[in-house]
Amino acid sequence: INQGHGVKGLSEMGLKTIPKQYIQPLEERQVISKIIPQQSIPIIDMSRLLDGHDHDDQVANSICDAAEKWGFFQVVNHGVPLQVLEDVKKATYGFFELPAEEKRRYSQCGNTVKYGTSFVPHVEKTLEWKDHLSLFNVTKDRASDLWPPVCKDQVLEYIKSTKLVTNRLVQVLMKRLTVHEIDETKQNLLMGSIRTNLNYYPICPNPELAVGVGRHSDASTFTILLQDDVGGLYVRGMDGDGWIHVPPIDGALVINIGDALEIMSNGRYQSAEHRVAANGTKNRISVPIFVNPSPRYTIGPLPEALATNSCGDQKPKPIYKQVLYSDYVKHFLSKAHDGKKTIDFAK
Ligand code: SIN
Ligand code: FE2
Repeated sequence: INQGHGVKGLSEMGLKTIPKQYIQPLEERQVISKIIPQQSIPIIDMSRLLDGHDHDDQVANSICDAAEKWGFFQVVNHGVPLQVLEDVKKATYGFFELPAEEKRRYSQCGNTVKYGTSFVPHVEKTLEWKDHLSLFNVTKDRASDLWPPVCKDQVLEYIKSTKLVTNRLVQVLMKRLTVHEIDETKQNLLMGSIRTNLNYYPICPNPELAVGVGRHSDASTFTILLQDDVGGLYVRGMDGDGWIHVPPIDGALVINIGDALEIMSNGRYQSAEHRVAANGTKNRISVPIFVNPSPRYTIGPLPEALATNSCGDQKPKPIYKQVLYSDYVKHFLSKAHDGKKTIDFAK
């Protein structure tokens, strides 16, 4: 098997059955009976928070409630122009449709740009049916010149256009934790680095045996996810065993709380487990922006989050240890997608 052409290369070879490295153990396969069709994550209209109504408590409350209860919600009227979303989706196809040799030039560029397949293939027992391009920028808008020209401007524009919704979400989520001012330190702690992934999930000849992405929660503060109209993203339901579909909504963005915010909020906000099913008939793309702490900052339950609990009475104990964010990420990347990793940092 030539992994150098990615899963897209495999898919286009016209295989009737997937190579055995892609066959998931039974318990990781998507089973229809585990899907909860009657539940759905909230859809929140952000316009009143963005158009100058700085303190629309109703919208703010729905955001914080969703972050506490589900760790997942969709936003509409988020201020990101729909054309920017269309352009970045097109640019994603543009990258993956490059000749294999061209894409491979980005497979060894280190941390700033990395084309790859699956998640961490060198440690995974079973591979994911997915290729990706990961683009990193630590500071503001300084994108590396190493980013592929076919998608660089579109990704930059996408990141720039999400700044407002990012800032508003941070403000609102922090306010509930009684953090009222986002100074420079908090800024770095909550959103000091940005990673954007372009994900490509090719048609899979045995979708019932494989996964697009295995179950995991993100390592981010939160993630802003653009998905196309194919569907297949599932979130673990609150009572454990079932999975809830995150339906594609034209023009919407999916927001999910990541592990870093779960830790900083001392467990008040939840990073929910999610997964992506493989698809037998359609290629799928998605473009997450991971809003991350600065790698050099140490994350742990915020003092403010330890001053009051949700009822405002006795002081909660810290349930998570302090950890340097780059160490958290190192841990995250040392194992396959096999569930939440926050537990490994519990006190
Ligand atoms: C992921 O969570 O890793 C990808 C989500 C998606 O493609 O929808
Ligand atoms: Fe994820």
